[in-house]
This record gives sequence, structure tokens and C-alpha cells, in this order.
Amino acid sequence: MPVVKNIFLTGFMGCGKSSVGRLLSSRLGRQFVDLDEAVVLDAAASINEIFSSLGEPAFRELESQALTRISKLAAVVVSTGGGAVLAAQNRTLMRQSGSIVNLTAGVEAIASRLYGDRQRPLLKENASIERLRTMLEGREPYYADADLRIDTTEKTVEAVVAEILHSIKEFQ
Ligand code: S3P
Repeated sequence: MPVVKNIFLTGFMGCGKSSVGRLLSSRLGRQFVDLDEAVVLDAAASINEIFSSLGEPAFRELESQALTRISKLAAVVVSTGGGAVLAAQNRTLMRQSGSIVNLTAGVEAIASRLYGDRQRPLLKENASIERLRTMLEGREPYYADADLRIDTTEKTVEAVVAEILHSIKEFQ
């Protein structure tokens, strides 16, 4: 366990993890790390390119490797990719080195935030409400494994960060 625990933001695509992470880290004066960006740097390829040329299992492997490295840091704020919670190994890493804050949003809000998005390979073929709902339901047990859960629907990034800062003493 690092001296000062890390903070991991988890949640489905479009729940605001990166924006919230950036603002939270600056409010706390801590370093911010975006797990997707770390994977992109490691692979020297975009998320779309990794999925299309290597496939999802290879992406998940790169994601776990980057998370293993990041978990060894102390006091950083980390925004994870929406599927990072799927591997038990990743959940253990996050639990052992920090606190987990899960951001949620209603399925309609997620659909409108992701409308027209071209950066998420998992939604390339089908980004319908039904598909989003099925994915959300399948992932719910993993997202629920958190110290704090915040519904971001109709909330500004500022308001979400204020809620995290309000509760942080209880779990950090
Ligand atoms: C994914 C979410 C993405 C990215 C990849 C897979 C997922 O990150 O890691 O496209 O499985 O939900 P964001 O949640 O930051 O969009």
C-alpha cells in the first residue's frame, strides 16, 4: 500500500472519468494519470488501432500492464477505461493501492454524451440504448465494488468533484 493512497475513478464510457479526474487532481494538488492515455503511449497506437490490429484481449493485457505500473505510484488520481474493472486482477490492484470512486450516469445521458463518438471501438457497430443497457447491466457488479459512487447525470464536473472532496476524508 502506498504511503498516500491513490484514487481510481471507474465507470462506464461517457460518465466523465477523465474530466473529473483532471479537475480532482488539480484541486488536490496531485498528479493525474489517464489509463487509456498510458496504454496509447505504451503501444504507440490509438485505442481504435489497438483494437483493430491486435484485438480486445491484447488491449486488456496492455491495460493491465499499465495499471500494474501506475498502482505502484502514490497519491495519484487515475481515470481508468470503462472496462478496466472487468479483470479481477485489476480490481485487486486498485483496492490494494487506493480508493475507488465509481461514476455512474443514466443510460439516456450516456447515450447522448457518446452520440457520434468515433473513439470507442466497442460501440462502433452498435451504440443503441439497448446495447448500452446490456453492457451496463453486465458490468454493474464490478462498478459497484467502490468506496464511493456518484451519479453524474445532470451534474457539472465541478459539482461531481465537490462531492468527491466532501466525502474523501471518510475513505482516504
Ligand atoms: C472501454 C472504455 C474506453 C477504452 C476502451 C474500452 C470499455 O475508455 O478503455 O475503448 O471497455 O468500456 P473510456 O471509458 O475512457 O471511454
